[in-house]
Amino acid sequence: MEVKIHNSTFESWLLPSEIAEAVSIIAHQIRKEFPAERLVLMCVMKGSIVFFADLLRQLEGEVEMGFVSASSYRGTASTGIVQIHARSEISLKDKVCILVEDIVDTGQTIQAIRDILSLEKPKALKVATLLYKKETFLGGDEPDYVGIEIPNEFVVGYGLDFDELGRNLEGIYKLKR
Ligand code: IMP
Ligand code: MG
Repeated sequence: MEVKIHNSTFESWLLPSEIAEAVSIIAHQIRKEFPAERLVLMCVMKGSIVFFADLLRQLEGEVEMGFVSASSYRGTASTGIVQIHARSEISLKDKVCILVEDIVDTGQTIQAIRDILSLEKPKALKVATLLYKKETFLGGDEPDYVGIEIPNEFVVGYGLDFDELGRNLEGIYKLKR
């Protein structure tokens, strides 16, 4: 199936069932590493909202939630400038904090957020990402939990956008070339 967004055509790629399986595996990996611990799940806005909501409900035990809002992207190419606009007031001190990202591309966004939040001295600070473009990753700390490794394709859906559109698609679509 194809969809048109801002005059570009995207084709169906990752199905809701494949995404759900990846989310469930990540939840198990997190609970395997931190079996009985209270977790603070931090949603990296806005693209991660859908993944965040699904991951939250797959995690058993005590889970708090918060958000951090950052942006680095204009259109389909990264600007390389990361801005943090806002975050919830939840305290991370001595807590196990999981940053929830939709996609790690160059890795700059998540590295910037990781650096800032680590100043609050959490007991552990981990990154869970649904998608990981390993080919374009520029180095630094690799994500701790990865749902699906993808090649360098531009994708939308399941929270991910192309200039703010496409977030409401249930599955993940890639730009047709
Ligand atoms: P990074 O800083 O290069 O790792 O970029 C991460 C951010 O860029 C993600 O949180 C997304 O918001 C955005 N991004 C990267 N690749 C894509 C894509 O294929 N589709 C939509 N957004 C993307
Ligand atoms: Mg994002």
